[in-house]
Amino acid sequence: MKAKKICILGLGYIGLPTASIFATNGFEVVGVEVNQNVVDTINKGGIHIQEPGLHTLVQAAVKSGCLRATLEIESADVFIIAVPTPITENKQADLTFVRDAGHMIASVLQKDNLVILESTSPPGTCDGFLKPILEEAGLKAGIDFSLAHSPERVIPGSTVRELIQNNRVIGGINRNSAQLASQLYKVFVEGEIKLTDCTTAEMSKLMENTYRDVNIALANELAVICEKEGISAWEVIELSNLHPRVNIHQPGPGVGGHCIAVDPWFIIERYSDAAKMIELGRKHNDSMPGYVVQRLKLILENIPAPKIAVLGVSYKGNIDDVRLTPALPIIQNLKEAGIDVTIYDPHVRDFEYELFGLKDALNGVDCILLLTDHDEFKFMAPQELGKLVRNRIVFDTKNALDRELWQKAGFTVYRLGEGDPKENN
Ligand SMILES: NC(=O)c1ccc[n+]([C@@H]2O[C@H](COP(=O)([O-])OP(=O)(O)OC[C@H]3O[C@@H](n4cnc5c(N)ncnc54)[C@H](O)[C@@H]3O)[C@@H](O)[C@H]2O)c1
Repeated sequence: MKAKKICILGLGYIGLPTASIFATNGFEVVGVEVNQNVVDTINKGGIHIQEPGLHTLVQAAVKSGCLRATLEIESADVFIIAVPTPITENKQADLTFVRDAGHMIASVLQKDNLVILESTSPPGTCDGFLKPILEEAGLKAGIDFSLAHSPERVIPGSTVRELIQNNRVIGGINRNSAQLASQLYKVFVEGEIKLTDCTTAEMSKLMENTYRDVNIALANELAVICEKEGISAWEVIELSNLHPRVNIHQPGPGVGGHCIAVDPWFIIERYSDAAKMIELGRKHNDSMPGYVVQRLKLILENIPAPKIAVLGVSYKGNIDDVRLTPALPIIQNLKEAGIDVTIYDPHVRDFEYELFGLKDALNGVDCILLLTDHDEFKFMAPQELGKLVRNRIVFDTKNALDRELWQKAGFTVYRLGEGDPKENN
């Protein structure tokens, strides 16, 4: 690969690690951002998001002189777009960030450049949406410049490792575009790289997350059924998964984040008459926060003016990301019902509601509601925590706590996906 200078637009959870890895592999990398604070933080070798191994990587990249951040787009050999692709309130793809990034690139695009869209996008985005914007530069895609889609499939918490080790799908506007992008990623990717067209790459990325969403919906449905039956969904899943071709997912209080809770909507929006099961699964997962609140109210029905401590508000364990977290509608719903809620999360720094230290959050509460399976929660000492609370009740929506330990400390332990605990619990 002859490319020497790479411009990466968007220095978030995907763009920043990608930029740093290219920089530590000797490329001149310019990170383009719209957020001045992000630019300043990165240029000092700091990070504005939490991700294991990222700080060291960014420090090394900036120190080597190969990575710098800026607000202004510059001409380069390669442009990588890693901007957000959220959904609107009406569950439609919001491509304004991709559009803006496309216009920025078009303003400096030159012959023989390579443009790669990494952002997860609805089918047809590269070909039908981004290509015409880039061609406003007066250059023809596939002839004057190359265009490819290289969707990212890392898991937050292991982004740096997975960027390198995961297999990658690259779709090109033509074969040459896909091959050029593949040569670029081969610099650090250890996984297999499969080449295809842009729309197939877009759809395969969306289906990966849709597969997971629909399967989580199935697990959530099982949780509700098992509660009614008075048995444990967790045990059912463990036993069913002994079958060599069965992989039932884990239930939970809802699905959040920038990916699984969003990507299926890109398919539903475009194929609403065909994507029936996908839509049902998505809506079922979106109904889980309401279900958790309903169950919690039943658990606490005999306690006047109950106080609740929520443990964990990020959408997933051991990360700081609260985008579309199910914790938010749960807390909103509880507060609207006049219930006093305190919140503790050892990873999250910014949230819609005030965050407390662990002891302050638990002080005088009637119930601990666990919504995220951070490792910290698995190692808590319930004997000590029991001294802080008013009533020893815990509702574990992630099956994260050692039930026996908590019971020994005098807690009544409720779990999502299980009937109410027996009297001698
Ligand atoms: N976070 C993940 O784990 C993950 C995994 C797979 C795929 N993705 C996809 O990757 C894309 C990026 O996600 P993310 O989590 O990194 O988002 P992010 O919000 O963490 O980062 C995006 C950054 O882009 C910046 N930005 C917005 N418009 C810009 C512009 N025109 N020019 C330059 N910068 C701009 C924002 O300020 C922000 O810092 C999304 O499409 C997402 O669906 C994310």
